[in-house]
Amino acid sequence: MPENATSDDFTVTPYAVEGEVDYRELLDRFGADELTDDQIARFPGQHPMVRRRVFYAGRDVDRFLESANSGRTVSLVTGRGPSGPMHLGHVLPFYFAKHLQEQTGAHVYVPLSDDEKYFTKDLSLAEIGEYTRENLRDLLAVGFDPERTRIVIDTADADVVYPLAVQFAKHVTQSTMEATYGRPDNVGLSFYPAVQIAHLLLPQLVHGRHASMVPIAVDQDPHVRLARDVAAKEAFDVDKPAALLSKFLPTLDGPGKMSSSGDAPGIYLTDDRETVEEKIQTHAYSGGKSSLDAHRKHGGDPEVDVAYQLLAFYFEDDDATLERLADEYRSGDLLSGELKAAAADKVADFLEAHRERRERIGDLEAEFEPYRLTEDERARARPEGVGLFD
Ligand code: TRP
Repeated sequence: MPENATSDDFTVTPYAVEGEVDYRELLDRFGADELTDDQIARFPGQHPMVRRRVFYAGRDVDRFLESANSGRTVSLVTGRGPSGPMHLGHVLPFYFAKHLQEQTGAHVYVPLSDDEKYFTKDLSLAEIGEYTRENLRDLLAVGFDPERTRIVIDTADADVVYPLAVQFAKHVTQSTMEATYGRPDNVGLSFYPAVQIAHLLLPQLVHGRHASMVPIAVDQDPHVRLARDVAAKEAFDVDKPAALLSKFLPTLDGPGKMSSSGDAPGIYLTDDRETVEEKIQTHAYSGGKSSLDAHRKHGGDPEVDVAYQLLAFYFEDDDATLERLADEYRSGDLLSGELKAAAADKVADFLEAHRERRERIGDLEAEFEPYRLTEDERARARPEGVGLFD
């Protein structure tokens, strides 16, 4: 384990999240900054994930905000490791990126790291390929602007990704890599950080130097740190990408835990209304009292209540409504089952709309085409002189 990423009580690296995460302490370990009220106020569109500090920290956010608010070119990079079906928590950052794209006209780059997941999971390349195609449908269903969005698959877009990764790999020493990630299980994983650096710098290589930001869960911050170090080298004509770091979305069994750690089921993008209601009613950790009488008398605690967290993190946009729910819950007027029903309803609405768009996607190859790098973009991104005949 890297010495700065682990302690007695919790561990956070791109490959392992364990224990109860202290989000503030993590910033000290990583060297990132908590978002200020002023920064939050300058976010185009005031998305609830920013307003409510789900995205709670960052690096260099000011430069991105300045560019975005003065109409200059900006971009976002947020990716997906296709190791299984996507659930609710996986898709929300993409909806956030789409929202920022609508607000700012940002280029959005979505890399799919099928190579990374092959190195870390016990899955065949064919199985990863299947998940890649499934996840791709969900990403297309988000409804990004195809003119300004590029989805890149490591093994399928290797003509661009590989020469770039080669170039960046040379600037990361073995000891830096190990200090950042710990000792990897195979050489694929030793090299992979160079691939993710290629993802993070790609928009600037295609569109020229500009303010680029990476909105991601805080465990991915080490990748951004390395990318920033490499971006600063003289050899490359790019700015350091900014990071916008989020807390982990709560799983049903309680806030502060990662999706894979608990036994409670996740909410899948394929879950229908009934399933969502059943999962939330049965499994969502409640901040309510155990008996009806006690709840009416003493009230519940919204801060630890997963149904409330879902509403606060994403699904209740209106601050006044959210506050009213919290007040009624604290006073005991609102019961745990009622709060859960309210959350389930919103989540089910969201999933229904997502599924409708997903079902309208016909032939995947044809629908994917407008989101792929064009020949011209590929040529611009590739290091000069690489490639046989172009
Ligand atoms: N490594 C990320 C994960 O495991 C996926 C990913 C690949 C990514 N490239 C990225 C995330 C670029 C953000 C930005 O989930």
